Amino acid sequence: MLHTDTGHGAFKYRQVIDLIAENIDSGTLRPGDRLPSLRKMSERVGVSVPTVRQAYVELERLRRVEARPKSGYYVRHVKRNDLVDPTGNPGGPPVSCACRTLMERVYDGINQPDLVPLGIANPSMARPVAKGLHRAMKRVMARAEQRSLGYASTVGEPLLRRQIAYRYLDTLGVNVEPDEICITNGGQEALMLALSSVATAGDVIAVETPAYHGVLELIDSLGMLAIEVKTCPEEGVEVSAVEATLEKHPVKACVFSTTIGNPLGVTMPDEDRRRLVDLIERHDVALIEDDVYGELRFDGQRPMPAQFLDSNAHILTCGSFSKSAAPGYRIGWIVAGESVDTIARLKRAFSCSSGFLQQLTLAEFMASGDYERHLKALRPELRCNADRMSALVAQHFPAETRTSKPDGGGVLWLELPDSVDAELLFDSAIDAGISTLPGKLSSPRGAYPNFLRLSFGHPWCEATEDALKWLGAEVYRMASASS
Ligand SMILES: Cc1ncc(COP(=O)(O)O)c(C=O)c1O
Repeated sequence: MLHTDTGHGAFKYRQVIDLIAENIDSGTLRPGDRLPSLRKMSERVGVSVPTVRQAYVELERLRRVEARPKSGYYVRHVKRNDLVDPTGNPGGPPVSCACRTLMERVYDGINQPDLVPLGIANPSMARPVAKGLHRAMKRVMARAEQRSLGYASTVGEPLLRRQIAYRYLDTLGVNVEPDEICITNGGQEALMLALSSVATAGDVIAVETPAYHGVLELIDSLGMLAIEVKTCPEEGVEVSAVEATLEKHPVKACVFSTTIGNPLGVTMPDEDRRRLVDLIERHDVALIEDDVYGELRFDGQRPMPAQFLDSNAHILTCGSFSKSAAPGYRIGWIVAGESVDTIARLKRAFSCSSGFLQQLTLAEFMASGDYERHLKALRPELRCNADRMSALVAQHFPAETRTSKPDGGGVLWLELPDSVDAELLFDSAIDAGISTLPGKLSSPRGAYPNFLRLSFGHPWCEATEDALKWLGAEVYRMASASS
């Protein structure tokens, strides 16, 4: 029997898609089974027939079901992607980032205009929020034109710090004082200030592998060394691997994303996060939690950042509006707790303060309720894009290709056949008008030569589908040329 618990709040159309997908995933609906008729489904879940039709058409586009003329919709026999094996064999000595030249080449490439943007992790663009932000900015300009042209205070505009603190209370039930928060130039500066406050040149920093390439470049620029810690493809960094690393190496700090790492896109279970906090407290090591994707789980669940679990460990949380609203505003933050004076001193030395108009605009945007409404619409859009991308990879790439199964965020991590060099693929894709991110950048040792990161954070369109088909054909070509 089809399980029809549709829950509340989500869009009706999305509810039907999720309901069918969940029944397929759980095996209740099997390949070849007929879906309930449009009318029956509409009666069962209390949505209109056109809405059910729209959902079935979308499921067809996702290649989960197929329409048979005059008969109805049936569950497809689909090839599913196997899960990536992301370990990359870490365990060597701490190293400095190996990929400076490649990083420069990739950034030159992906910043070209008019490319199909599969290289940049820019999930807020899947449902751009320009109108809402412009409205908020207009209201700010009408009220505080003069003020917004001046310098904001070093730690940031109180209105925004209060909104951020309120959001922690509202979404997680935790009490963060606005005075503990320092506004930064995006998540990148938050990570830079956090790292500079706990470590210095020559120190060893533990990172997950694969890792966000920007943090690797940062560690390198600060003269620090990175040591990679093994991850599990479904749950992110492995606490037992952190323990082994802390026992073997003189680690000064860890930088992990326990909610939606980049590029794996998965979340650490709560009990492991608790063990992680106990571990770093026992070893007297700082933890910098990169939480820039914390709001972007597809299911809207907001796991508790490690800093808010009861402990005496030294933990800093780095957040940002780049992934959830507007990367061009360059506004992020650190929940610095008792280190706020140290962070403020560093912030003043490095960049004085952050854009005032952008801070006021974001505070207004949050206070109006538009931010929450935007996130509620963005998450299902991202889930839908992730499903579409996985389905097209399963259809158009060689059978050995494996993918991540993200819980949220905006990127898919692909393991291509061993013989495929993702750096060469990056070059030929740029020539074909498509940006991608070669996997080597996700490791300080340049591991993952046959891995590729693709972004699904943009409005889905035919050009995206054509780009994925082109990439699949190119991977086939490269794999067969080398055999
Ligand atoms: C995991 C992660 N952390 C931090 C950042 C930097 O964020 P921002 O653009 O706010 O500086 C990014 C951006 O790609 C990211 O993916």
